Amino acid sequence: DKAGHKHFMSKEIAEQPRAIAAALDAYLSEDGAALNLPDTLDFAGVERVLMVACGTAYYACLTAKYWMEQIAGLPVEVDIASEYRYREPPVTPGTLAVFVSQSGETADTLAALRHVRGRADRVVSVTNVVESSIAREADLDLQIHAGPEIGVASTKAFTCQLTVLLLMALRAAEARGALEGDALADRLSALRALPAQITGALDLDGTLREAAQRLAEARDVLFLGRGLMYPLALEGALKLKEISYIHAEAYASGELKHGPIALIDKAVPVVVMAPRDGLFDKTVSNMQEVMARGGQVLLVTDAPGAEAAGEEVWRRIVVPTVHPMLTPILYAIPAQLLAYHTAVAKGTDVDQPRNLAKSVTVE
Ligand code: M6R
Repeated sequence: DKAGHKHFMSKEIAEQPRAIAAALDAYLSEDGAALNLPDTLDFAGVERVLMVACGTAYYACLTAKYWMEQIAGLPVEVDIASEYRYREPPVTPGTLAVFVSQSGETADTLAALRHVRGRADRVVSVTNVVESSIAREADLDLQIHAGPEIGVASTKAFTCQLTVLLLMALRAAEARGALEGDALADRLSALRALPAQITGALDLDGTLREAAQRLAEARDVLFLGRGLMYPLALEGALKLKEISYIHAEAYASGELKHGPIALIDKAVPVVVMAPRDGLFDKTVSNMQEVMARGGQVLLVTDAPGAEAAGEEVWRRIVVPTVHPMLTPILYAIPAQLLAYHTAVAKGTDVDQPRNLAKSVTVE
């Protein structure tokens, strides 16, 4: 049932305020003022975290690496399951291994889990299906509470994965004494405000639909981001290519000069994800390099960022200002809407894109 939407994807995008609120409800205390994750999610003796997944779930893990390292001071290694499983890397004591999978049935992720089991101190899964193989074979499964996701392009599962992984990073920080004074309470209160801010980002639907008409004419689109916006740029490019069939690539903004800038001309729209944070000025200079070569920049930012970016940017998409740690979750919304409306403008099969399956249970 598409609940009045033309596609499951658009329904699932719209469901995100509720889905994220459900994930928060599951892992916060009743008053929302404390974490309420299972006691078995124990960080005692954990020296490093290993995260393994595929596709969108892999980008959720890459995002979590920034959180775990910055908030909890815990080193994180992230790998693509198909690479990890055949490399069969050594797993040293003190490793907490995390496997992220919406379906819980992805063959490569399951194989990677089986390699790690018995070697890591503890194996945690983050899935959307309680009875799935990955959930059953992990020591501890954390449900993301997204509800069934039908569209092949993952949307609400991604933001719910991010929500749960962020809570896990906060738990690690708490256990390691990395958050002083009110720092944890402040972050939890920012998280509780997130569903309403996601609703604010969903209001940009019309603006993004309009910008998507131009993207639909492009042969190639680039996505750029720094810091927490880099994994999101990767996710934005994946979303666009899988449903609109437009060639889309993402780069860390700082890598532009090391090769990708050669691709820029006036036919290549460049989507830049950049809240006004400590890295913003560096991103502005990357944008200027793009514009100097005729590239059309679509900047997704907050109100201070839009003001600082100036007028010459082709399109400014202004999302609500949120706590800096929450930007990957909020900025996922415009990335999803942009891909969705581009695909609709091109007339592709949004929910069942060619050559793709919802769950990749064979290699
Ligand atoms: O079920 P999983 O989370 O393990 O699936 C992983 C990927 O196959 C999946 O995220 C895929 O990349 C999506 N189609 C992306 O939208």
